Amino acid sequence: MPAFDVETIRKDFPVLERTVAGGKALVYLDNAATSQKPAAVLDAVRDYYERSNANVHRGVHTLGEEATALYEGARDLTASFINAADRSEVVFAKNATEGINLLAYAIGNAAPGSALAVGPGDEILITEMEHHSNIVPWQLLAQRTGATLRWLGLTDDGRLDLSNLDELLNARTKIVSFVHQSNILGTINPVEPIVRRARDVGALVFLDGSQSVPHHAVDVQALGVDALVFTGHKMLAPTGIGILWARRSLLDELPPFLGGGEMISEVTMAASTYAEPPHKFEAGTPPIAEAVGLGAAIRYLTDIGMDAIAEHEAAITSYTLDALRSVPDLRIIGPDTTQARGGSISFAMKGIHPHDVGQLLDTYGVAVRVGHHCARPVCVRFGVPATTRASFALYTTTAEIDALVEGLGHVRTFFGR
Ligand code: ALA
Repeated sequence: MPAFDVETIRKDFPVLERTVAGGKALVYLDNAATSQKPAAVLDAVRDYYERSNANVHRGVHTLGEEATALYEGARDLTASFINAADRSEVVFAKNATEGINLLAYAIGNAAPGSALAVGPGDEILITEMEHHSNIVPWQLLAQRTGATLRWLGLTDDGRLDLSNLDELLNARTKIVSFVHQSNILGTINPVEPIVRRARDVGALVFLDGSQSVPHHAVDVQALGVDALVFTGHKMLAPTGIGILWARRSLLDELPPFLGGGEMISEVTMAASTYAEPPHKFEAGTPPIAEAVGLGAAIRYLTDIGMDAIAEHEAAITSYTLDALRSVPDLRIIGPDTTQARGGSISFAMKGIHPHDVGQLLDTYGVAVRVGHHCARPVCVRFGVPATTRASFALYTTTAEIDALVEGLGHVRTFFGR
């Protein structure tokens, strides 16, 4: 493997060469929202459409077989990327949100009284730092079934408050679902104590890896969780493909979520039987080109090495935390150290609305995200209406962080600070 060289890596991403805001270099610091795509991914998608476009698992013709091999090849690559025990544990969906909804709706479809069913008296445990996609599906499940939704709170430095874990994760808890790395705070949560406690009480554990899988090696067997969701577009792949990994025994037990073609074994007018996982959960024509792109993205990330990527992003995060401390009246919302935190840094500037910060930074070519980042309870917890967030990827440079800090200086000047 060649040594990690950010300038060489940047050459693989065509969009990073463009200018914005009247000729300014693009400084793309919105990677937690979506990552940019390397030429290897763009080429793989284009090549698929130019040479092999066909539906999968259907045709006996050459193109159909090629498309199926590419689609199923992406499943193999994904399984090995997260160290799944078996390729059948990898289900392709539209995005991570659909993966979580699949779990919640399939559990909601479980026969009353069966091991997976939830109902009155049962509890579902989430946390206050979840993305809305890991809150709303569980609220809906609780509303449909009469189960109770509970959540772990946050400490002032943006960590999970585990002081009452044993009380909240108890014999009534059927499901624990929490984020591996927070999209708004950057916090990397400790999985092991939650899994250990969940095992003691017999609860299922689901992890939202949307912000962790793109940035450091994730091994589902080592984590010991029951399911993990993540999304392609945050890890250099196209939009339109999400991944649900779950233990094969759980996928065997779960009823289907969406019904239709591809997910069946036999259909009569009265009833149907279902295909084996993963196909049981992949109704309809799947995201074929998107899976091809995901496969290319995984190859690209693997060639560079997830440990090298994690090391680079940790250095960028450390550099940014130091640099932001030099900006007067700036408050970091989330851990102020590099300990167990990833490269998503939210901050508030005293007396200046984040939307103004974002718009002014854009005039200097710096792209950040502003708002509640689909994690509104976190903003409420920290008493801010919204934050400005800079988030990094393997191609982020210290020069880009310098541009951010210089831009924040311009913002302060504009507001007469
Ligand atoms: N969930 C994405 C973000 O955090 C869109 O920006």
